Amino acid sequence: MPVQGDALAVFDPDVFRAGAPYDALARLRRDAPVQRVELPALPPIWLLTRHADVIRVSRDDATFSSITGNTFVEVPVAPDSAMLPSLDPPRHTAIRRLINQAFTARNVSRLEARLREIATGIVDRVLDLGQFDAVPEISAEMSLQVIAEVLGVPTEDRLKIFEWSNAIGSLGIEDPDYAPTPEALGDAGAAMFGYFTDLVAERRAESPRDDILSALLAAEIDGNRLSDSQLNEFFLLLAVAGNETTRNTLSHSIKALSDHPAQRAVAAAGPLPNEAIDELLRWSTPVLHFRRTATVDTTIGTARIAAGDWVVMHYLSANRDESVFTEPERFDLARTGEGHVAFGGLGTHFCLGAQLAKLEIRVMVEALYSRVPDLSVVDEPIRLRSAFFHGIKSLPCSTKDNG
Ligand code: HEM
Repeated sequence: MPVQGDALAVFDPDVFRAGAPYDALARLRRDAPVQRVELPALPPIWLLTRHADVIRVSRDDATFSSITGNTFVEVPVAPDSAMLPSLDPPRHTAIRRLINQAFTARNVSRLEARLREIATGIVDRVLDLGQFDAVPEISAEMSLQVIAEVLGVPTEDRLKIFEWSNAIGSLGIEDPDYAPTPEALGDAGAAMFGYFTDLVAERRAESPRDDILSALLAAEIDGNRLSDSQLNEFFLLLAVAGNETTRNTLSHSIKALSDHPAQRAVAAAGPLPNEAIDELLRWSTPVLHFRRTATVDTTIGTARIAAGDWVVMHYLSANRDESVFTEPERFDLARTGEGHVAFGGLGTHFCLGAQLAKLEIRVMVEALYSRVPDLSVVDEPIRLRSAFFHGIKSLPCSTKDNG
């Protein structure tokens, strides 16, 4: 059956080595927008490819729970866990309110000057290089340096955070070049845990600084604070959530701007309006999908979903939904209108780092194209073997336009 074949392609990591299966996703949106898929050793999966269904499921956490995790790996959750993606309200609400006290728009915008310094350093280096791979030199560098900044890690320790974040951040990636051994993953987790336990103890002993870590340590609601183990879990979560996501958005953005020189000229003219950053996010959609588990028998459209079934919201497909985005295959920094779902469908779990990620992308793109207006991709990208992260592993670039 063609529809089954399309649905299986959407979950086949090898398919993504040649690029996302946009045609298969378009056929599913048209012919089978809520498609049942059976994959070995997993519960029945319902693949949602339309924007409206992604939004609906995102916003109904009573019917569609996150308690067993949001990826294809089931995560056991400790009773006092602060792992937001695997919590449902009311526990999720309580922990997220505490964390929101630190991730305010004000605290994020305070980082802007420092982010500009980081981006300037990155551009200085690529200008020296002339020819370079944009993934390690720009995308990975920016996202990792920003995580270290947000977590309040002293400069001399940043390399450790880079290594641990990379090992932990590749959890669940099916690419042999990235997947760490279980030992390396365990070691990175333990080392990071130990490191942050010491850092938190040090920071608690000194007077509060004007940064997100101090705000996290001080966060309090009704006498509740985050315990040290909850803070530690949260650091691990940030190391994962803020790493591959921003990295791949930047890599896809550099590729798209190289493929569309007129749009690249818009980026070079800067500063970029919000819509332009949103278009980069829609185009890139670095997290392909997240899942929920049905808590009761329910329906989506004509599909009858049983309690316990998995429901997968395909963000990349929703972001190309032709009923929502005019000519979705057109990359257009001036696009306005309905919102993308790269950060999720505005429900309970909407990306905590969305403001930070947008700032990071804006700062990096503006710093880059104002000084390297002809930045070009000079060879085919090597894409990540993953049906979960929409990733690019290598992107050979030149500071000159070779076209
Ligand atoms: C382009 C960059 C990013 C993208 C596309 C992205 C995407 C997402 C998505 C799709 C979700 C799940 C939404 C849902 O289930 O409804 C999410 C959740 C989350 N993100 Fe991001 N993210 C990005 C960057 C970041 C950064 C930089 C951070 C932190 C510094 C971060 C922290 C989180 C956290 C903590 C959650 C869990 C929120 C919860 O469950 O309440 N993300 N993100």
